[in-house]
Amino acid sequence: MLSVLLLLGGLAPALPAGPHWTYEGPHGQQHWHEGHPECGGRAQSPIDIATARAQPDPSLPPLRPEGYEHPESPELTLANNGHTAVLALPPSLRLRGLPRAFAAVQLHFHWGRPGHAAGAEHLLDGHRAPAEVPGAAGDSSKNGLGWQGGGLRASPSLTPLTPQVGDEPHPAYDNILRHLGNIRYAGQTVAIPSFSIRDLLPAQLERYYRYNGSLTTPPCFQSVLWTLFPQPVRISRAQLEQLQGSLYSTEEGEQEQPQLLVDNFRAPQELNQRPVLSSFPREPEGYSTGEVIAIVFGAVAGCLGLFLAVHFGAKRMRARRAQAQDVVFKASSRR
Ligand SMILES: *[C@@H]1O[C@H](CO)[C@@H](O)[C@H](O)[C@H]1NC(C)=O
Repeated sequence: MLSVLLLLGGLAPALPAGPHWTYEGPHGQQHWHEGHPECGGRAQSPIDIATARAQPDPSLPPLRPEGYEHPESPELTLANNGHTAVLALPPSLRLRGLPRAFAAVQLHFHWGRPGHAAGAEHLLDGHRAPAEVPGAAGDSSKNGLGWQGGGLRASPSLTPLTPQVGDEPHPAYDNILRHLGNIRYAGQTVAIPSFSIRDLLPAQLERYYRYNGSLTTPPCFQSVLWTLFPQPVRISRAQLEQLQGSLYSTEEGEQEQPQLLVDNFRAPQELNQRPVLSSFPREPEGYSTGEVIAIVFGAVAGCLGLFLAVHFGAKRMRARRAQAQDVVFKASSRR
């Protein structure tokens, strides 16, 4: 965690920061492009993947997470940034099987609202799973971590596809979900005991969809190489409800009535001729809808950007409220 923060510190002056954003309302997703032009681009995420039109590419290798079973740090930091719950990952976690070497940065969640089972961002054949868990990794070569012309260059994110709801609680997800009560309000963080991050991922890391897209939150940089695992990860209904009902998007004491953090997913974006590849042959029988999506653990070439964006977004929010003149805030307002 420490090295991640150091890295962020190094990048801070170059970071573009924009206006406050939300999913709905006057700062909602239809308006993101006003303050963040790239959100109106032609290679945006998420998308609805038409599985029958995905192009099989047998040269795509299985994704190989290294060091995920035993993260080096004894504790991991879980934060509520007002938009989602973010688990920071130590850079000792490496992701192989991508065009370049990538180091883990964070993973986070997208979900719906209590009583509504749909909250994932990526759709498979029009089907929206209950939740999505994108993991973010950054290009571990020095060049790749720099910001080039306003965009984050190549850092893939790994997205475990949407979780499917079952009867049994998923023990690995419990390592995260049981701590949500400690970060109910935006801006809160908690140190949680380290656990095997590998166990959050689906078993079959050789079956995935791959396409070039963007961060799904402002600044929407189009530098993400998405990897979407269609194999479901099953969490229990109680776990899903925990995700949907634990967090507020507002800070403690900010409002008399705290706002539940719900429906934090972006609408599907136009594909615009982008190819979607699959690492496996087309299946004649197809998937039965409803069976399809579990957690998306995607290898994004830009989830690092998301992390940076949410990190500084939250920081900026706090800074603005406190009228504090910290470096990050100054760096952002200079723009
Ligand atoms: C993504 O974009 C890169 C750079 O343009 C290209 O080389 C690669 O083939 C693209 N990958 C996919 C899955 O479209």
